[in-house]
Amino acid sequence: MKKLFAVIGDPIGHSMSPVMHNDLFSFYQIDATYVPFQVKSEDLQDVMKGLKAMGVGGFNVTVPHKSAIIPFLDEVDELAARIGAVNTVVNENGRLKGYNTDGPGFLEGLKTHISTVAGKKVLIIGAGGAARAIYFTLAKEKPLAIDMANRTIEKAEQLIADCPYTVSSAALSLAEAGKNSGEYDLIVQTTLIGMAPKTAEQPLQLSSIKNQSLICDIIYNPLATKFLTAAKEKGASIQNGIDMFVYQGALAFEKWTGVFPDVQRMRANVLKQLGGNPC
Ligand code: ATR
Repeated sequence: MKKLFAVIGDPIGHSMSPVMHNDLFSFYQIDATYVPFQVKSEDLQDVMKGLKAMGVGGFNVTVPHKSAIIPFLDEVDELAARIGAVNTVVNENGRLKGYNTDGPGFLEGLKTHISTVAGKKVLIIGAGGAARAIYFTLAKEKPLAIDMANRTIEKAEQLIADCPYTVSSAALSLAEAGKNSGEYDLIVQTTLIGMAPKTAEQPLQLSSIKNQSLICDIIYNPLATKFLTAAKEKGASIQNGIDMFVYQGALAFEKWTGVFPDVQRMRANVLKQLGGNPC
């Protein structure tokens, strides 16, 4: 019988996950289908019961349910529990277990550009859910430091205080971070600034760039945000959000099927959906 996989969120119409995962099911000859479901917050508990009763193989969770889903799961993996957000659920013998593959997906994507985060000085811009997943994941990799810059500095301070892994960190204003940008080996932009309708904006002005630094933006539409374009003009290497998106999906696919999929195939598929060239 065909296995059901899904993504739940609201809105969900623009998700590229169904095309990406259905292509993989067909490529690996797995008898399964992946369906997007628009789920309103007030229906989340009922939907969870329904998916479980139907014997769903697993599903992805996106905005606005990544934290709200936690009480309805049978089990939550340690990293996901610490981040406080789940993006991947696996049906493990009738029990629904939640994982977070956003942070690990970012890290795996990063490894296509740099060999290690150990000993590196990192700046993360933003202090929302994505920043939290990336910060907690990178904190485990023995970086020299991870500073957090955010419009609301108290949120950056709170995020640092919440991190269960020991790492040297300072909370900075966006202006301070821009002034100090030349200190960092790796800068990760996690806010929505740069995405439509804010394509003409960038969260901070980079004053200078350290030699051989890598600047990442987790946005993939547009493929190059204003921030990434500015970083490239200053001589930095850049990475857009496609790798994070592809690797979070690859890690989810592996949890559901035991197969680590062909990420180049996934990348090409996502780029085709976006209609552009890699950055
Ligand atoms: P996500 O889960 O995608 O990370 P989020 O939790 O809503 O999204 O977080 C959004 C991030 O973008 C926050 O860091 C937010 O800054 P605040 O904590 O000050 O709200 C940041 N952000 C959103 N709009 C912004 C703007 N116009 N200027 C600067 N930062 C902005």
